[in-house]
Amino acid sequence: MSVTIKNPHEIEKIRESCRLLAIVHDEIGKMIEPGVSTWELDREAERLIRSFGAVPNFLNYMGYPASICASVNEVVVHGIPSKKTVLREGDIIGIDMGLIYDGFHSDAARTYGVGRISEEDQKLIDVTKQSFFEGVRMARPGNHLYDISAAVQKYAESFGFGVVRDMVGHGIGREMHEDPQIPNFKPFGKGKGIRLLPGMTLCVEPMIDAGTWKIEILEDDWTTVTQDGSKSAHYENTILITEGDPEILTLYRDGREV
Ligand code: MF3
Ligand code: CO
Repeated sequence: MSVTIKNPHEIEKIRESCRLLAIVHDEIGKMIEPGVSTWELDREAERLIRSFGAVPNFLNYMGYPASICASVNEVVVHGIPSKKTVLREGDIIGIDMGLIYDGFHSDAARTYGVGRISEEDQKLIDVTKQSFFEGVRMARPGNHLYDISAAVQKYAESFGFGVVRDMVGHGIGREMHEDPQIPNFKPFGKGKGIRLLPGMTLCVEPMIDAGTWKIEILEDDWTTVTQDGSKSAHYENTILITEGDPEILTLYRDGREV
C-alpha cells in the first residue's frame, strides 16, 4: 500500500473517530489509581467505545485479546489487561487504544503516574510527551517524514533516554496501520523520507525508555519490555497534516490535554 491523502469527507470522518477516542482516553485517565486492575480499565474502555456506536480496533487485531494495551513500568507497549495486574502507588502506566467509527480508525496513547511517583519517572513521562510535540512541530508541507523522526530522537536523547527502534508510528485511515512507517529516530542511510503533504493522517508515537532502547517480547507474544528492566513511557496522537500547523485530532479542539 502507499501513502494516502484523505479528502475532506474522509478527514471529517477521521476527525469524529478521533474526537470520540479523546473522550474515552479522558474517562479512562480518571480511573487510574492504586487498586484498579488493568482488566477494569479495559472493560470500561470497551463499554464506552461501544456506547458511541464505535468498535475497538485493537480487539482481535492479529489475535490481540483485549480492547486496550495497558503497559505498566518496564512494559513498553502491548501489555495485555489482566485482573492480576493491579496498579500500585508509584507505578507508571501507558494506555494505548483506538476505535473504528463509521469505517475510520483513530489511535492514541497516554502515560500516567499512579498516585505519587518519583521525579525520574515524571521526567520520563514529560519528556516522552514533549518529544511528540517536538516531532509534530515538523509535520508540515515542505518538510520530510524523517524531520519528525529526527526531532523526536534529538529531544529524547538529550535527556539520556533510549528511543525504542523496533516499533514505529504509522499512517491511519480506513486501516489502523497504513503507510508510511514513522520511526522515532532518523534511519541511517535512508534519506529524508517522503515529502509531507496536506491530507495525510499520521500516528506519531514515541516510545521512550529510561535506559536502553533495546526491547524484548515475552512468551505471550505481545508484552514488550525493556531489556534492562528500566521504565518506559509512550505518547501518541493521530494528527492531520494541513497547509499550515498540523492538527492534533485526538486532543480536544481547545488543545486541552486528555
Ligand atoms: N496502538 C498500536 C499502534 O499504535 C497497535 C496496538 S497492536 C494491538 O500501532 F494489537 F494491540 F492492537
Ligand atoms: Co499507533
